[in-house]
Amino acid sequence: MALSQLHPLDINPQTGEPFLRLPSPNHNIILTPPRNGDEDAILPILNDARVYQWMGSIPTPYLPHHAQSWIATIKQKSDKILEELREEERINPGGPLKIVGDCPVRYLREVQSDGSDVFIGDICIVRSPLENVVDPEERAALVAENNAKPLGDPSICWSFGDYVAVSHHGRGIMSAAMDVVLNLWAIPRMGVRYMKGFAFDGNIPSARVFEKNGFIRRGMVDNGREVRGKPVVFIHLEWRHEEN
Ligand SMILES: CC(C)(COP(=O)(O)OP(=O)(O)OC[C@H]1O[C@@H](n2cnc3c(N)ncnc32)[C@H](O)[C@@H]1OP(=O)(O)O)[C@@H](O)C(=O)NCCC(=O)NCCS
Repeated sequence: MALSQLHPLDINPQTGEPFLRLPSPNHNIILTPPRNGDEDAILPILNDARVYQWMGSIPTPYLPHHAQSWIATIKQKSDKILEELREEERINPGGPLKIVGDCPVRYLREVQSDGSDVFIGDICIVRSPLENVVDPEERAALVAENNAKPLGDPSICWSFGDYVAVSHHGRGIMSAAMDVVLNLWAIPRMGVRYMKGFAFDGNIPSARVFEKNGFIRRGMVDNGREVRGKPVVFIHLEWRHEEN
């Protein structure tokens, strides 16, 4: 029997929302699309210095209007991928699984005993910012070239962005989430074959999460980047898909 275009997403029978579940012992953690109303939950996490100090791409302080425009943007992207897949199912029933440009489930939620859930983090997969390229003009040209490559091109370089609430650090959650997103969605549904990982020097947990998912350290990169007024140096890691 042909697989649904949403394969391997599960569907919540109550809400119809697609999701992926982490394996045991974190099986109470699911990945879902962003939702309207997530704004309040992301604010305390992204205003916690133990989280934002390792992130280069978010404003500090992280204000309600930042959260509102961010959730609107990423929810729209997620909804668009799901719509694209449902449309493919409609026009080409039983056809081959379509390659898409994003993972529609990215928000980590802890399911409670009453069935409700609590937002605890995020994992996204994007075309790589190529922080390993030191010269800014060369980097901009290579990023533009990478962004212009058509979906399915195995030479596209991708990267992960991620964070988890401090209350949930060190439980293996992001290691498992990266494994799930990489192997259940990125490789089969996005055609991802090549990735780079970047973590600020000193971010041992982030580097470990990459390494536990098969990324190899390529060295340190100082490309002159400043974050919140301070210079940062990147740990540069790389991953390539091993063909069976
Ligand atoms: C990076 C982050 C997402 C990891 O999430 P997590 O769910 O806590 O990660 P995990 O529990 O799956 O794995 C963390 C690993 O780092 C290890 N680790 C944590 N602190 C460590 C330390 N000080 N020294 C050595 N190893 C350490 C853990 O032991 C674990 O490795 P192990 O399974 O081999 O023991 C989380 O720490 C975070 O949100 N940090 C702030 C934001 C951030 O850094 N985002 C990434 C930006 S690149």
